[in-house]
Amino acid sequence: MRSLAGQSVIVTGASSGIGEATARRLARGGAQLVIVARRADRLAALARELDPAGRRVLAVAADVTDEAGRRRVVDETLRRFGRIDALVNNAGYGTRGPVERVPVELIRRNFETNLFSLIVLTQLVAPHLRTQGSGRIVNIGSVAGRIARPLSSVYDSTKHALEAITDGLRGELAPFGVEVVLIRPGFILTEFVDAANQASESVLEQAGPYAPYCAGFRADYRKWHWLAGRPDDIARLVEKALTASRPAPRYAGPTHAKLLLFLKWILPPRVIDRLVRPRRK
Ligand SMILES: NC(=O)c1ccc[n+]([C@@H]2O[C@H](COP(=O)([O-])OP(=O)(O)OC[C@H]3O[C@@H](n4cnc5c(N)ncnc54)[C@H](OP(=O)(O)O)[C@@H]3O)[C@@H](O)[C@H]2O)c1
Repeated sequence: MRSLAGQSVIVTGASSGIGEATARRLARGGAQLVIVARRADRLAALARELDPAGRRVLAVAADVTDEAGRRRVVDETLRRFGRIDALVNNAGYGTRGPVERVPVELIRRNFETNLFSLIVLTQLVAPHLRTQGSGRIVNIGSVAGRIARPLSSVYDSTKHALEAITDGLRGELAPFGVEVVLIRPGFILTEFVDAANQASESVLEQAGPYAPYCAGFRADYRKWHWLAGRPDDIARLVEKALTASRPAPRYAGPTHAKLLLFLKWILPPRVIDRLVRPRRK
């Protein structure tokens, strides 16, 4: 086990949900944190709460899709803490709707946040980890990175691509002592569904013949609330990925996520198709 104490860790998407829970957990473990998101007020409040003295938690309000914002994250981390030990790529959101009806601009925007920004931030951080001969990159993927669902496949494809990038990076950085880990959360109660509905509002309003299926899809989400995990279920896995002496390449949680991944592995595609098919409402 490695201690978190004194490690300098960047967490993106820390203003709510999984990122916020991760920041809380890592702060408790004694890490020096750089928390990143667009909502400056939320970040500042979290930083004050976690570190009233303002020495161990640095809030950087930035949009990860913005080149200058990403550079500011890395520059301010180095200025404040002098080094980077880990990057937790967590910022992300979902786009809903039938592929036929989602404007390509919205699809590009989702890839820009969930994939390209993560890649570029990794490109900025990796040289520091590589030259110091140690460090960890933890990417928050999803069970949706293995199981694509109708009406959600824009988001799901961003997470499928993230799986490939993460696997490639793991092999590229291993010779330099840098570990790369993928976390696959299942359904977790956060602001994710609200953010996805907001990002997809125009698509869902003009879903045409798909409208009854989109309504069914949204109703299904509420139906599964009882099964949902808590953000800290995933924060615990991030902590494990950062502290294990030899982290696993991938972690999944909570239990339903492991079960879904197992079913994806053993069931024929036609059966999976039937299980995820949206119903009319
Ligand atoms: N909840 C789930 O069921 C679930 C399941 C599997 C995977 N995940 C993944 O978990 C990660 C965290 O999601 P969550 O569930 O915690 O949702 P959430 O509560 O909506 O949190 C998303 C975070 O990402 C930040 N963010 C989004 N776009 C950003 C941008 N352009 N620049 C900077 N920050 C940005 C948001 O902050 P601002 O709005 O303040 O910028 C927020 O802090 C995502 O990658 C998501 O795909 C979630």
